[in-house]
Amino acid sequence: MRRPIIAGNWKMYKTPAEAVEFVTRLREATTGLDGVEIVVAPPFPALAPVREVLAGSHIGLAAQNMFWETEGAFTGEVSPVMLAETGCRYVILGHSERRQYFGETDANVNHKVRAALEHGLVPIVCVGESLSEREAGLTEKVVTTQVEQCLAGLSSAAVAGLVIAYEPVWAIGTGRTASPDDAQEVNARIRELIGSLFGADAAALVRIQYGGSVKPDNTRELMSRPDIDGALVGGASLKVESFAGIVRGCEEAAKI
Ligand code: 13P
Repeated sequence: MRRPIIAGNWKMYKTPAEAVEFVTRLREATTGLDGVEIVVAPPFPALAPVREVLAGSHIGLAAQNMFWETEGAFTGEVSPVMLAETGCRYVILGHSERRQYFGETDANVNHKVRAALEHGLVPIVCVGESLSEREAGLTEKVVTTQVEQCLAGLSSAAVAGLVIAYEPVWAIGTGRTASPDDAQEVNARIRELIGSLFGADAAALVRIQYGGSVKPDNTRELMSRPDIDGALVGGASLKVESFAGIVRGCEEAAKI
């Protein structure tokens, strides 16, 4: 079945030295927790030093963004080739903060998803509705459009290997978590949609995370829902104790 994946999105936190100290302790704190795939997504300058500490460990490396070109005159951007060579296996794409502050669109995300796949990176594709969209009853419509457009033109095999993160924007950094039932409902809809667009195998294999104020004390309930295959964690991924607690909670839920 699907192996749950807990990814820590550090956003713009931790210098390279802080990052190295953190993953050294995280490696210890999560030894033996192998029912869950663990990934950290540090800021770009910390990727190479963190990779050194994680070499040969059970913890994978992700970047938080990338551009779709391989190289060129694109000041300030980082390419999929560079990320792959730096040891990233995953790349978070289309996070709501990228959409909100940096103008990313579903079309941009689609371009990036294709480029990531071409270079052997696994995209973690973020989707989710805003508070006003939820209140207007538009959650399903918004998320459907995002999934359709971000994954447009992909093969079923490619979709099967993806990670999708459902992150309702109103739950990010607010302490307001979607209820396990609400998160399950949207994740199930996404899986159904993947089934109708890419076939039953892709739907059965694609991993769909939940993200938005995930903490050690709400992890177990969220992760015990059938269509929630892990979490994309912001704030609580910045402390070893809470991130390891989330990994533990997920592992316990997966064993139920
Ligand atoms: P919080 O866990 O801080 O709500 O952030 C979620 C998030 O944006 C992860 O990508």
